[in-house]
Amino acid sequence: MRVLLLGSGGREHTIGWKLAQSPDLDLLISAPGNPGLADFGPIVTGFDINDPEAVTALAIANRVDLVVVGPEAPLAAGVVDSLIAARIRTCGPGREGAQLESSKAYAKHVMGRAGIPTAPAHTFTDVTAAIDHLATAPGPYVVKADGLAAGKGVLVTQDLIAAQSWARLCLEGHFGDAGSTVVVEDYLHGPEVSIFVLTDGVTALPLAPARDYKRLQDGDNGPNTGGMGTFSPLAGLPPDLVDWTVQSIVHPVLDVLREDSITYRGFIYVGLVLTDEGPKVLEFNSRLGDPETQVVLPRLDDDLLGLLAAAASGELHGKPLSWLPDAAVDVVIAAEGYPERPETGRPILGIDRAAAHPNALVFHAGTERTAQGIISRGGRVLNVVGTGPDIPSARQTAYDAVAEIELEGMHHRTDIAL
Ligand code: GLY
Repeated sequence: MRVLLLGSGGREHTIGWKLAQSPDLDLLISAPGNPGLADFGPIVTGFDINDPEAVTALAIANRVDLVVVGPEAPLAAGVVDSLIAARIRTCGPGREGAQLESSKAYAKHVMGRAGIPTAPAHTFTDVTAAIDHLATAPGPYVVKADGLAAGKGVLVTQDLIAAQSWARLCLEGHFGDAGSTVVVEDYLHGPEVSIFVLTDGVTALPLAPARDYKRLQDGDNGPNTGGMGTFSPLAGLPPDLVDWTVQSIVHPVLDVLREDSITYRGFIYVGLVLTDEGPKVLEFNSRLGDPETQVVLPRLDDDLLGLLAAAASGELHGKPLSWLPDAAVDVVIAAEGYPERPETGRPILGIDRAAAHPNALVFHAGTERTAQGIISRGGRVLNVVGTGPDIPSARQTAYDAVAEIELEGMHHRTDIAL
């Protein structure tokens, strides 16, 4: 099978690494890819992966059998709709289905119709109405730009003035169209769990849950980030949580989408908060999580290529996925200044030494290969993953491998999976 993989982060490197283990893979083209993905096949750069016509032309020119879309932006831009119209099999939802992530108001609407437990929310397009509502709401305040804002459109705060300023910022154009509507919702108290499901629109297969560390610093301090580390499996989850998520969240959502004639083929990411009143949905994403993918796929004991092709064809079987008993822990190495102003262009040493540790894997994210070697080119630079028979040993391996990496100003959390 000839596969085109869209995206350039740690999630995509991990997807490519797992696809490359399939006996049915003939060619893996990555666009724009990263230096890690270059190990598995050609990298195509110099075009916009959010441009439906450009992606479709690339897939046709390369006689691609399957396109796999990693990040949310091409999904929201309608890349899948264009590929499907050209009869190219694609794993990822079209623009309408991707609204589960690209419009928080749409996601709330679907949840309402499907009877899914979530935080009560109000939607605003008018600054005064939003500010007046916040003044009467109990804190903590959760104010979200409706659209995609690269993970930066959400403010959670105890400070009413900050919440009102955030609503104003969104509605006055700080995030462009993404903020022209804001969603204000009640704060959900409890630990967060990410559960991913692969679906062909009818059948839904859950993946192993993972926990993401969104705050920059140890002890869950500092600003929100794209994710600073993750681990899987999770101990102490309610034993029926995954099945409950599939039956009570994912299938009702798919039912609503089908009622609206939306075929959803790809991943649904269910962000849950385990509140005292039971699990509630914090958010949906229309793709796999990053960095959670970096610990989930190394544990998958099935052929990812076969699964993604089956989902894209509407032929997913109902057999539960198989998982290795091993644990996996991922520590994200971030550039100096991340998340506000990451410093880029700095040499990175020690990647091969880190990857040479037994049971260690290094997935690239914000890196670039130059004639002088690998340099940093993004905020989250590398994912260093340790695997092992249990979380403590996987954790030890991850941190031993992290110690090999040299990048001026780099930082990482020291409490992942502790
Ligand atoms: N780790 C959070 C996300 O992928 O959105």
